[in-house]
Amino acid sequence: MNKSLKTVFCCQACGYQTPKWMGKCPDCGQWQTFVEEADKSKTVQRAVRGRGICKQEPVPINMVQVDDEERILSGIKEFDRVLGGGLVFGSVVLIGGDPGIGKSTLMLQALNGFAGLNRRVLYVSGEESVRQLMIRSKRLSITSSDLLVVSEVDIEAVIAMVESVKPDVLVIDSIQTMLNTDLSSAPGSVSQVRESTMRLMFMAKKTGVATFLVGHVTKDGAIAGPRLMEHMVDTVLYFEGDSNHVFRILRAVKNRYGSTNEIGVFEMKKDGLDEVANPSAVFLSERPENAPGSIVTASMEGTRPILVELQALASDTNFGTPRRTILGLDSNRVALLVAVMERKLGMHLMNRDIFMNVAGGVKVDEPAIDMGIIAAIASSFLDKPVRKGSLVLGEAGLTGEVRAISHIEARIAEAKKMGFLRCLVPESSLKRMSKIGDVELMGIKTVSETVNLLF
Ligand code: TYD
Ligand code: MG
Repeated sequence: MNKSLKTVFCCQACGYQTPKWMGKCPDCGQWQTFVEEADKSKTVQRAVRGRGICKQEPVPINMVQVDDEERILSGIKEFDRVLGGGLVFGSVVLIGGDPGIGKSTLMLQALNGFAGLNRRVLYVSGEESVRQLMIRSKRLSITSSDLLVVSEVDIEAVIAMVESVKPDVLVIDSIQTMLNTDLSSAPGSVSQVRESTMRLMFMAKKTGVATFLVGHVTKDGAIAGPRLMEHMVDTVLYFEGDSNHVFRILRAVKNRYGSTNEIGVFEMKKDGLDEVANPSAVFLSERPENAPGSIVTASMEGTRPILVELQALASDTNFGTPRRTILGLDSNRVALLVAVMERKLGMHLMNRDIFMNVAGGVKVDEPAIDMGIIAAIASSFLDKPVRKGSLVLGEAGLTGEVRAISHIEARIAEAKKMGFLRCLVPESSLKRMSKIGDVELMGIKTVSETVNLLF
C-alpha cells in the first residue's frame, strides 16, 4: 500500500464516501457496499492535468477540424459491423461474456485481422502465459509478426508498454486481472476494476490507441465491476451463447459510434471462430415440420432482418397461479399479448402454464414480432401447426388491432430467401409496399383474423 496515497471508502451502490469502513451506508441504506478506493479527486486531477483539457477554451463547433473519421477494419465482417463499421481510434470497447464463451479467441482472431491489414496490435493477457498464448495462436493459425503478445497484470507496466510500443489497437484480457498497486484491494475487486478502466480510458483518449477491455460477467449477467464501467467506455459488446452450442452472438448494447442493434453471429469450431454469413438459415436449421407451437417471424437486428423461430408451449397448470417462463423475449410483452388473446380470441389461458423460447438461444425484442408470439401460443393452445411456409409479422395493439411495422420489404425479402412464401403482414404496411417475387402477401387487420388465416 502506498502510504502517500489517500484512500476513501466508497459505497458501490450510491457513491457515498466516508474515511472509515461502515457496514451500512447511511445514505442509501444498503449493507456491505463499502470498498476502499484511491481518493478519486487526486487521481482525476492528475489524469485531467495530463490531458491538458483544463487549459482549453471553448470553441464554436463548426470551427472544429475533423478529418473524415477513419476506422480500423479487422476484415472479419461480422465483427466490424457490430462495431458500427470498424473500430474508431481512441475508443474504448468493453467485451463481456461468460467464462469459456470464446472472448480470448475472438480477440486474438480480431487482432490477427487488424495486423493483417497493417496495424500494429498489442495483446496483454493477465490470465495466460506467453507460452499458452502461442499454443492457442497455433490452433488459430495466427502467424502475423505485427501481433505482439505479453503476459502482464501491473497496470503501470501496461501503460508504460503502450507508450513505448505505440500500437494502433490494444487488448486487455481481462480487466479483472489488472492490478493497481496503489490500492490495497485484490485484483478483480470493484475499486481495482474501476481504477484500471479509468487509467486505460484516459490513456486511450490521450494517445488514440483503440482499446478493447475483456470483462467477465457475474452470475446475474452484468459485467463484473461497477455499472460505472459501462458508462465510461464508448462501446459495450456482449459475447453470448450457450457454451454447449456452437453458435455465438456478439451484440452491441451501447455504441457511441454506431447502432446498438447490430449482432454478429459466429460458430465455434476446433480451429477458432467462423463467421456465419446467413444466420436465418442457422436459426431455422433444426425447425420441426408441422409442429404445433412453432412459428417463424422476421426480426430486424440493426440493419439486417433475421428469421427466428418462436416456440410456445401452453400446458395445463397444476397450481393455482399459472407459470409464465419466457426465454429470449420480453416477458411483460408476452403477458400483455396473453391478455389480448384472452379477450379477443376467447382463449382461456389463465389455467395454462405458458413457456416460450426463441430457438437457437437468440434474444429478440421488438414489437414487430408480437403477432409471431400470439401465433405461437395460439398454435400450441389449439394443438394445430400453422400452415406450411407461413410467416407472420405485425405489432398487436391492446384492442386486438394489428399495427404497421418498419422495414417490411427487407423482412419479406429475407423470408422469400428462406422459402417462406405465405406472409401475413399488417394491412396498413401492405398498402405501402410493392410486390416481392412470388411471395403471397396477406393483409391482416385484427388478431382474430390472423388466427383464422394461419390455421
Ligand atoms: P476462450 O476464448 O478461452 O474463452 P474466454 O476467453 O471467453 O474464457 O475459449 C474457450 C473455449 O473455446 C474452450 O472451451 C474451447 C473452445 N475453443 C474451441 O472450440 N476452438 C478453438 O479453436 C479455441 C481456441 C477454443
Ligand atoms: Mg479468456
